[in-house]
Order: sequence, then C-alpha cells, then structure tokens
Amino acid sequence: MSKTLEMNEPDTRNRLDDMAGRNVGAPMDRPDGPAKVAGAAPYAAEYVIDNVAEGVLVTAPFARGTITSIDERSITGMDGVIAVISDERLTARPAQGTANETPVQTPLSIAYFGQPFALVVAETFEQARNAAKALKFDYSADDPSEIPFDPEAVEAEENDATRQGDLDKAMADAAHSVDITYYTEGHASAAMEPHAAIAEWDGERLTVHASLQMPNYNITELADSLNLEEDNIRILSRYVGGGFGSKLGVSQETVAASIAAMKLGRPVRVVMSRQQVFQTVMRRSETKQRLRLAADKDGRLTGFGHEALVSNLPEEDFAEPVTQASAFLYPGKDRELLIEVARIHRMTAGSVRAPGEAVGMQTLEAAMDELAEKLELDPVELRLRNIPDEHPASGLPYSSRKMEEALKQGAEAFGWHSGPRKPRQKREGEWWIGTGMATAARIHNVGEAEARVTLNGDGTVLVETDMTDIGTGTYSILTQIAADMLGVEPAKVLVDLGDTNHPRGPGSGGSWGAASSGSSVFIACEAVRKAIAEKLGVEEADLELSGGTAKGGGQEKLLSELAGNEGIAKTGTFKPGDAQDDYAMASYGAFFSEVAVNRWTGEARVRRMLGAFGFGRVLNAKTARSQCIGGMTWCIGAALTESLLFDPVDGHVVNCDLAEYHVPVHRDVPHLDVLMIEERDPAASPIQAKGVGELGICGGAGAIANAIYNACGARLYEFPMTPDRIIAAMPED
Ligand code: MOS
Repeated sequence: MSKTLEMNEPDTRNRLDDMAGRNVGAPMDRPDGPAKVAGAAPYAAEYVIDNVAEGVLVTAPFARGTITSIDERSITGMDGVIAVISDERLTARPAQGTANETPVQTPLSIAYFGQPFALVVAETFEQARNAAKALKFDYSADDPSEIPFDPEAVEAEENDATRQGDLDKAMADAAHSVDITYYTEGHASAAMEPHAAIAEWDGERLTVHASLQMPNYNITELADSLNLEEDNIRILSRYVGGGFGSKLGVSQETVAASIAAMKLGRPVRVVMSRQQVFQTVMRRSETKQRLRLAADKDGRLTGFGHEALVSNLPEEDFAEPVTQASAFLYPGKDRELLIEVARIHRMTAGSVRAPGEAVGMQTLEAAMDELAEKLELDPVELRLRNIPDEHPASGLPYSSRKMEEALKQGAEAFGWHSGPRKPRQKREGEWWIGTGMATAARIHNVGEAEARVTLNGDGTVLVETDMTDIGTGTYSILTQIAADMLGVEPAKVLVDLGDTNHPRGPGSGGSWGAASSGSSVFIACEAVRKAIAEKLGVEEADLELSGGTAKGGGQEKLLSELAGNEGIAKTGTFKPGDAQDDYAMASYGAFFSEVAVNRWTGEARVRRMLGAFGFGRVLNAKTARSQCIGGMTWCIGAALTESLLFDPVDGHVVNCDLAEYHVPVHRDVPHLDVLMIEERDPAASPIQAKGVGELGICGGAGAIANAIYNACGARLYEFPMTPDRIIAAMPED
C-alpha cells in the first residue's frame, strides 16, 4: 500500500498552500527541543548498554608506509585489556573482508599521518587509552622528504573541465577584465559531536548506534565492509551533533566497533578523540583558483574562466567541485571551467559544508568586486546585469530563481546604497569601517526518499523513515507537513527518525534532505488522504481535513473513527525524475556585510551581516533561519579564521583541536539578519521546496573580503584573511 511520485515535471498544484492547518512555514519550535536541552536526546556514545567494552583507535605516526607487525603481548598483561584488533578494514579505504579472521592482520598500508590501523579494547576507556598508547608495533615508513604533501609541488591531473568558445580571445577583446589567483586553506568539518559508535552483535544481527548523516547508505557501506547482508544490520542515528559532511560515510570508529563486537561477542563502544576527528575524517581540500572575468563596457560578462587546483590522496574519487556554481550563475559564452587534482598524502579530502560553492563562490565574488571597481559600477548593479536568461553552457531554462529579489531586497534592508563605495572613507578611532556584498548560490539536489505515515486509531499520526536530523530541523518539518496534510495538530504527530528498520530516507547531505524527505512524507500523506476519502465515499480532492475531522460530500467524521483499530498506514516514495534534467535548479541569495579593520593590528571584525535568500518554500521559518545563520557563521570562519594546517615536513595536522582550529565563537559573530524570500519552485520538489542547509555558506566569505577592502584598501588573495595577511596588504597611510 504505497504511492510513488517520480518528479518528471513541475508540480504546480502547490497543495501545501491549500491545507487548512497552516503549520508548514510557521516558525514552529522543534519537537525534539525539550529532549535536547534536558539531555534526554542521546548521541551515539551516550546509550547505556550493559557489559559494553571500550575501544580506542591506534593511529599511524607517519604519513606513508606499512605497519609490518603489531605486538599484542606488549599490552596483554595491562589492567583491563581485552584485545587488540587490527584489520585492513580499519584503514581509510573501506575494503571487503570477512569478520571471522584472526584478530591481527598485517601488513597494513598507511596513506596519511594519523590513519587508524588498530583498536585496543579494554574494560574501561582509561584502560583502553592507556594500552593504546603503550601498544608496540613495527613499521616501515617512507622518508618524509619523498612524500608529496604540497599540492603545488606535484603534477596535477585533470578531473573535470568545460571548455566553450575562446576565453583567451574574450579576455583580449574585453572592455574590462580581471585575472586573479586566489588561495583558500583547508577546512575541518568540526562537528560538535565527535565520531562515535556502539556496536552489539547477537550472533546473527548487528545493531550499531552511530553518528551518521545517511543511514540509508551507511548500511550498505557497513554490510560491504563486514560481508554481512543488510538485513542483518540495524543502524540507529536518532540524534546527531552535526555532520557538515564528515558523517556522510561510515568512518573507522563505526567499522572498528562493529568488527570488535563481532569478534568479542560483547558490545563495544568506540569514540574518536577530538584530535583523531581532526586527523582522520574528511578534510575540505585547500584550493588554488584562477578567476578570469571578461566584460563589455556595460559590465555584461562575455567570458568566464574558473580554474581550480585541489588535492586528495592517490586513488580517491572526490575532487572539491569548486566550479559548481560557476557553471550556471553568470553568463559569458566563452567559458573555461577546470578542476585539477594533486595527489598528496594529507588525509582523505571529501565533502565539508557545501563542497564546491563554499570556496568557489567566495573567490568568484571577490573577483566580481574587483571587476565592479574597474567598471566603476555598483557591485549590486554588476550582479543584476549578469543574471543570465538560460544556463550559459547547457541552454537549459532556470527553475524559479530569486536572485534579483535577493540582491535588491537585501541591499534595501541592509542600507547598502548609503555606504561609501570607495575604500578608506570611514574611520572610527583606530578602526576602518567598510561594507561588501556577494551573491549566494547553491545547486538544488534531491534524492530518492521513502517514508511511512500511519494514521492511528486514536487520531495520532506516526511518521517513520531512516532520515536523520543532524541539527537541521527534520523532526520539525516532517511534523508540520504531516500535520497539515492530515489536518491534525502538530502535537498529535510523532516523527521517528534515524532507524534503518524504517523505510529508507535520502539521508542528510548536499542540502537535499528537507525537500526529498519532506516530499516522501507529503506523498505518503496523499495516499492516507485517498484511503480516508474512500472510507468517506468522496474524491480525495473534495476532502477537507482539519482539527482531527474529515469533511466531504456533506459528511463529517472523526479521523480516529475512520482509522479504526487497525489504523491507516501508507508508504510514500519520492523519486527524482526528468525535471532534474530539464531545469537548472539552485537556491540563490545575496550577502551584505559591514566589517571593521584595525589600522594597527590588522584585526578584522564583522560588525553586521545580512543574508537574503530564496530557496523555494520555507518549511519552517525558525529552523530555516537557523540554517542560514549557521551558514553565515561559517562564512565568518572561512573569511577570517579557519585553516587546517599540515606540517610541511611530516604531513601531520598541526592544529587538531578546537582551540587551535578557529571556528568562529560567540564573540566573533555579530547579530546576523536573515531575509527569507517567499518562493514556490514547482520543478524542485512536490512540496516546492529547495535546499537551504548550505546556501548561507556559499559566497558570504567573499562579502567579508570585499568589506575588508572597502574598509582599509587591502585586497587579499588568501583565505582566511588573518591579521598578519591584512597588515601585509594594507596600503601605507
Ligand atoms: Mo554535506 S558537506 O554534503 O553533508
């Protein structure tokens, strides 16, 4: 009993607008909020499980080579020690194997400094940590001077390229042009909750509490790694303390806990230390980016070039998709987009907070600022003149796009037009004050999603899917959609997430979660409505559900009565379809920031920031705003403080904790204004919503860079713009 909707054409019915409840869009509080603030929403490591043993990962003290042997006896007599488990499945690239081999397998090949290769299991965490430090092992490590750590010191390979027309000619013929090279440093995802897992094996079935973004996919990864059937695995990930990309795939703690539980026949918990999280899980690649923009005398782009050098380990597929928004955002028929990958031995590079746009937009928008200056054109006006009619490479039409509205309404709300547009016009004591702006854009993704909705005999509604809420508000929006579609109060809806026993959701990543899982709940609710209509003997379209009653055809009945003892349960499946190929789809926005720069120390402080965003239907004004504020906060980090640093001699991560890796803290973040622009995007999803999770990160660091220039006249080409760099770039008084 299910309903499937494949998104082959825009869904212009806008059904959620016709529902009586009006919960969707409202700033409803999180249903999971009270549990979270009361400490009753456990993270993966916090489940209380009898007889659990504690595992601590052992990591490689060199960047490339082989662990040749592990001396288990070096720790077997120590207090509480149960076992040493080592297995190639613990190392970075998940490999197939079986769970019942001998506990210690060597040799193990190592590709980066800090790569886990063994797990020490003991009765207590302290005993396991102590023994992990004492464990002796032999290795053969390559001479660090022969290992490439610097992406610019090796030959890079082409990963992705679009070439159209003749960019060199467009640059030569341009009335105005810029050709600028930027550097951005690597980022750590820096989620609050460290990676952790507790695994239990009952002889047939493995149950894993883990901190993951995509249990729907992680179950497949884990089954492959452990050589188990997916039916023999249950993953639970009900509350996740942030992911930011680092929990898209399973990592070593989950595999290690699982292998250990299967081998030892008792539950095993593995929690990465903060240092291990920094050393081991996905990093965002550092980038080198060349931007070439050619414009006619009115500022319309005729040529567009964006070339990026990124890095990853040898053989890894992922390459930071730096040019993702450059592909569709601005015109220019002569185009060149290029991504090259340098193979180096820093840890695996992967998705971190809006892979691609976050670092690609900030440089593009800084280059646009320089172009505006050359044209003597207001930076907002330059963007307005460069909103293309169709996708500049594919010719596809855009789906709904609120770029112009965001630029205009954002400028108005911020008071942009009162600010001086030349540098060094405003000073307060020893602080130069300036403003800068940037466009925001992030592609719209959707993924296949399934959910089950049950109308119970007591009139309550249960929503079940293995979709996660990683702090984003999934519990809220699914509650609101089910409440409106079925005409019940939100308090009557229970959303049960993060359990692979439920229908498979889309997982949380790439800003696709809300539109995709929200659509599956919407579709399941349509099927429930149809069943209710049949029981009432009316067409579904004539059915009116509100306040727990169903009306239609002159009848009125309680939903609880219609549901009966058995209840009505339906599964809804959302599938991406042709609409995804027929339109260029993205969320858009604009950033405006005011920054103060200290003329003596080069310290930059963001004083005000406003983001105006259009991302389709706003499902919950409070959680969506929070997503935008979170994104803008990361913009401050990318602009001013965040850089993941590697030792050039041996390749280890130098700043592997939250004291040395500077994410913005409360004192760094001023009041952030968010303007959400109402939009319905019928091509984007059956609920007319697009992604918002990452939009607020995409471009804002460029607005801050532009404000630094406007304040003090320092143009910088390296992110983050730390005081030493600003001082060095500051013009003489
Ligand atoms: Mo995201 S960086 O795709 O979780």
